[in-house]
Amino acid sequence: MSARRGSAAAAVVVALLAAVTARAADGPRFTEGAATFQANCAVCHRANGAGTPGLAPPLTEFPARFAALAEGRRQLAMTVLYGMFGDIVVGERHYNFKMPEFTQFDDATLAAALNFVVFDIAHAPESTAVLTPADVAAERKQAVDGSAVREHRAAVVAALPP
Ligand code: HEC
Repeated sequence: MSARRGSAAAAVVVALLAAVTARAADGPRFTEGAATFQANCAVCHRANGAGTPGLAPPLTEFPARFAALAEGRRQLAMTVLYGMFGDIVVGERHYNFKMPEFTQFDDATLAAALNFVVFDIAHAPESTAVLTPADVAAERKQAVDGSAVREHRAAVVAALPP
């Protein structure tokens, strides 16, 4: 092979590698959480977490803000474990439908789904600590109902920095 054809072939390989790398970088950071979310949550919250007006709220903002506060992290774990019931306001829209409970999933599965929501959907900064199975386990020990989860949410929202 001439030197010229060799370098042309090398250029093609470099371009292909760049394309593959770019695709990987575009994928979710939490791939297992993404799979759980698409199979169990997207039906209401949509694949991109943008929500369904009148049914399920968007997950694009509050989860990242909650993840920065200890009580907010508890709130996220409580929401996926026990669901939520009662009026909430997100992006100036009211939502008042029942978020189902997901206690049938283990702690690691729920933590991964929350990390997909917090980092891949709501784009929390990388400095935010990931949710761990222990975070979910702590809330599993103290069962509450969906109305209590909503009341706790109101307290967390009131404590959020502007
Ligand atoms: C049947 C529809 C439905 C499904 C399925 C569902 N949700 Fe929800 N989700 C809701 C509704 C409705 C609310 C708001 C409840 C309310 O109004 O009190 C909500 C609220 C939330 C919130 C709280 C948002 C906030 O601003 O406080 C999170 C986080 C969340 N869902 C994550 C998930 C995850 C993760 C899954 C899958 C494991 C999931 N949801 C599955 C309907 C659903």
